[in-house]
Amino acid sequence: MPDRRSFLQSALAVVGATQVPAATAAAAPVREAVAAPPRPVHLHINGRDYQLSLEPRVTLLDALREHIGLSGTKKGCDRGQCGACTVLADGRRINACLTLAVMHEGQRITTIEGLAQDGELAPLQQAFLEHDAFQCGYCTPGQICSATALLEEMRADGAGLSDAEIRERMSGNLCRCGAYPHIVAAIRAVALRRG
Ligand code: FES
Ligand code: FES
Repeated sequence: MPDRRSFLQSALAVVGATQVPAATAAAAPVREAVAAPPRPVHLHINGRDYQLSLEPRVTLLDALREHIGLSGTKKGCDRGQCGACTVLADGRRINACLTLAVMHEGQRITTIEGLAQDGELAPLQQAFLEHDAFQCGYCTPGQICSATALLEEMRADGAGLSDAEIRERMSGNLCRCGAYPHIVAAIRAVALRRG
């Protein structure tokens, strides 16, 4: 019967024999990501046409901020969780970080820069000022774009105007500063003014 020492020696010998030395191991094939080449992309934003050359993987958010210079739309989480990147596509609110720029050719994109008209703030922008509806302001462009669409949605749905309804419909837009009561008050004020 083998003693403990000889058992361990033979076991180690087996392990050593079955291990392939690192230097001789076959190298795993390295897969290189191949980026699709840029292609022409035509976007219509805030009433202006932009002819861009973008890789198909570029998000609408990056197209706005990095390629067009419209940095009012903010990048918070970059994964659809905070709403800081909310813009309007044909009047519907979307998270610009979750969608590709190439998917929005032929649509009317509106960002926070496009809400004021003829030098006049949009009613929601004015109301956010009057109701102190922001602190750091980082979430504010997304909040205002989202609220712009919300007012149209509520009008179309004939939905009631309770604070709970506004809060529920704005729940995709987070505010780390906790300005929620003021945000709701600003939205309510504009909705009441519109009747
Ligand atoms: S940056 Fe798009 S949802 Fe947060
Ligand atoms: S005002 Fe600072 S995150 Fe909303």
